[in-house]
Amino acid sequence: MLPTRIIERKRDGGRLSSDELEAFLRAYLQGDVAEYQMSAFLMAAFIRGLDPAELSVLLREIIDSGARLRFEDDGPPAVDKHSTGGVGDKVSLILAPLLAEAGLRVPMMSGRGLGHTGGTLDKLEAIPGFDVSVDLARFRVILDEVGCAMIGQTKEIAPLDGRLYALRDVTGTVPSPPLIAASIVSKKVAEGIEALVLDVKCGRGAFITDLEQARGLARTMVDLAVAEGVRTSALLTAMNAPLGRTVGNALEVREAIETLRGGGPADLREVTLALSAELLVSVGRAPGAEEAAAELGAILDGGAALERFVRLIEVQGGDPKVADDPGRLPTAPVRESFRAPGSGWLDVHARRVGVASVELGAGRRRVEDAVDPRVGFEFHRLAGDRVSEGEPLVTVHAADTASAATAAHRLANAIRVSPEPAAPQPLILERIA
Ligand code: URA
Repeated sequence: MLPTRIIERKRDGGRLSSDELEAFLRAYLQGDVAEYQMSAFLMAAFIRGLDPAELSVLLREIIDSGARLRFEDDGPPAVDKHSTGGVGDKVSLILAPLLAEAGLRVPMMSGRGLGHTGGTLDKLEAIPGFDVSVDLARFRVILDEVGCAMIGQTKEIAPLDGRLYALRDVTGTVPSPPLIAASIVSKKVAEGIEALVLDVKCGRGAFITDLEQARGLARTMVDLAVAEGVRTSALLTAMNAPLGRTVGNALEVREAIETLRGGGPADLREVTLALSAELLVSVGRAPGAEEAAAELGAILDGGAALERFVRLIEVQGGDPKVADDPGRLPTAPVRESFRAPGSGWLDVHARRVGVASVELGAGRRRVEDAVDPRVGFEFHRLAGDRVSEGEPLVTVHAADTASAATAAHRLANAIRVSPEPAAPQPLILERIA
């Protein structure tokens, strides 16, 4: 196998046999293909795409580069969710303990914020003491004890993906549907799960703004995961305005706790229940999505899912008292009110809010940056609401007055008040299975 030949063939739009691609990827892992050669290959794959046979070899090689969890057949079914990334998306924090309480096992490995979107690990780390760097042995113990565990990517799972992602990140090759699909699905398959639900966000606050493209990515990921024996469905969900009332790590934890207590904003509850219901149905624990959502809604309202989350926080080293006393979460020293610039119907641009939250310190400009868990936005009114000029719309939580002023300036660009209401749009756009 000559690496240059493989790169040239992909560059020219040819297809690689399974043996060739497998040999190329293995040679890379052994140090016999250089980083610059793999970078060139990734760019060729980005431009030319990968056909289904090539994609399945890539997937398999990523999975086989590391460990794969296995659970006993007679235990609770293991399930997980993946979101392609949104603004204010704190669904995982609610879904994992909720499904554990419903009798499922949720071995959840999550990521950090990416671009203008938030990440589950950053949110969890806003809870004082919460440790997301747990090795696989401890991960299993926590799962047995609590029914769910929430950690970051470990070196043991899919190490090839870690290396490829690092190259894609600096070579402009992240937004490629087949590369994204192999990256995401490989890690989920390696978790040893039986069922997976994908939340493919679509809209101006998502990485994918076009419904047809979102459909394509969802279809590719569903097909890949199903071929690996994981029962998988995808919901395409709207991401035009932030999900829920808060954007920013500690603020989002607070809102997730409220939702786990049976409260919280309607949109967040709806998306969480729809995704959770998919999994309950996939593993045969409910006859249909409606019944599943009703059962899960009752668990939220009864408070048991919150108790489960409190146990998880405790076992992962966090301060469990945050559930009853959210004041124990980190709080920002500066709070400024952003007021409605006019009277009418509110529209909120999710991407602009996400970018403003990164600038405020809730996300990262560079991978090595630390996030400030205290800062973010708390919306008192949501997109679609009727508002009056001068009323407080958003509280800006900031580290200092200068960053609060910049954030207010950015918000002015993200918020519109229109004389006419916009046509209502559903949150769940489509289901792909
Ligand atoms: N998240 C991943 O894990 N991989 C990708 O390629 C993109 C987003």
